[in-house]
Amino acid sequence: MFSDDMSETNRGHSAEPSRSATGRAGPASALPESRYPFTPYPNGWFRAAYSSELAAGEVRILNFFGREWVLYRTESGQACLIDPHCVHLGAHLGHGGEVVGENIRCPFHHWEFGVGGSCTKIPYAGRIPSRAQLAHHEVVERNGLIFFHHDREGGPPRFEIPELSEIGDSAWTEPEIMHWKVRASWLDMNENCVDQAHFKFVHGTLTIPPTTARAEGSLHIAESVFTMRIPGGEGETKLVTLDYGPGFQVVRMTGLIDTLMLNTSTAIDQENTDVSFAYSVKFDGDPKKKKLAESVVRDLKQQFEHDRPIWENKICWPRPVLCEGDGPIAHYRKWYQQFI
Ligand code: FES
Ligand SMILES: [Fe+2]
Repeated sequence: MFSDDMSETNRGHSAEPSRSATGRAGPASALPESRYPFTPYPNGWFRAAYSSELAAGEVRILNFFGREWVLYRTESGQACLIDPHCVHLGAHLGHGGEVVGENIRCPFHHWEFGVGGSCTKIPYAGRIPSRAQLAHHEVVERNGLIFFHHDREGGPPRFEIPELSEIGDSAWTEPEIMHWKVRASWLDMNENCVDQAHFKFVHGTLTIPPTTARAEGSLHIAESVFTMRIPGGEGETKLVTLDYGPGFQVVRMTGLIDTLMLNTSTAIDQENTDVSFAYSVKFDGDPKKKKLAESVVRDLKQQFEHDRPIWENKICWPRPVLCEGDGPIAHYRKWYQQFI
């Protein structure tokens, strides 16, 4: 947890030396035991996979949140996420489990389980025990992504993943998907949207873009306007970043060319995050624009590599020393307290 006294408006430096996660004073003398003073496994919706990565009848093992999960798709197309071990004698459903119609069948004694996790068939028993129920997790499939819901106390979702009008619109390119494994927390990456100064010093924007932020419950909205060099010119670009909790970030860039980025971050374990960006550009059927779009996407990929070595080696101070030009970083950190 971060301390509450971080200035929301970033009014100047702290007069006190910062305290580390271990409570020792002063950044110069303190190396915290953990790089992050908060849970690596926050509450919210997180990408399990892209829809295109899971065919009907397919069974996959996922490694997220420091554990294993089994993701499968029934023959009618329903994506399901379950705990990996069968409630009978503990076989792993990801190793030899098969989809049979709307059920998943365990490889060991062929018990079958339906979409809600209940056992629907035991081939050698007339009565199904009432406790024959797999732990299953809430899943939603939207915008070409399969999300699962995580809540540490097992509570219901507190917000929904929106349908995005650009996805499936023929004026926009098919999303181009990139995956990275990054040795950093989701926060390091998501916080970029409000870290206005880094745009100039890391990504080479011509100015430090003034950035505003506001929170609407579980949604965080950040807006920046900046002058940027892109292939084919230089111009004013507006960046709007919508955070739907910690796992799903929608970035819209408008100006010289309209771009949509779907950024999803799912923790693998305490230190590593599976990050994926899906890029789509509005080209309106114009081949010239499509070429420009391709170079914009190439440029955006390079920008990820600019950030990466910083993310992978930084730590997250509980009380960073902020200054007035930093933008709404403290505001962002207050917003995400609701998920950690
Ligand atoms: S362990 Fe799964 S059916 Fe026996
Ligand atoms: Fe960045």
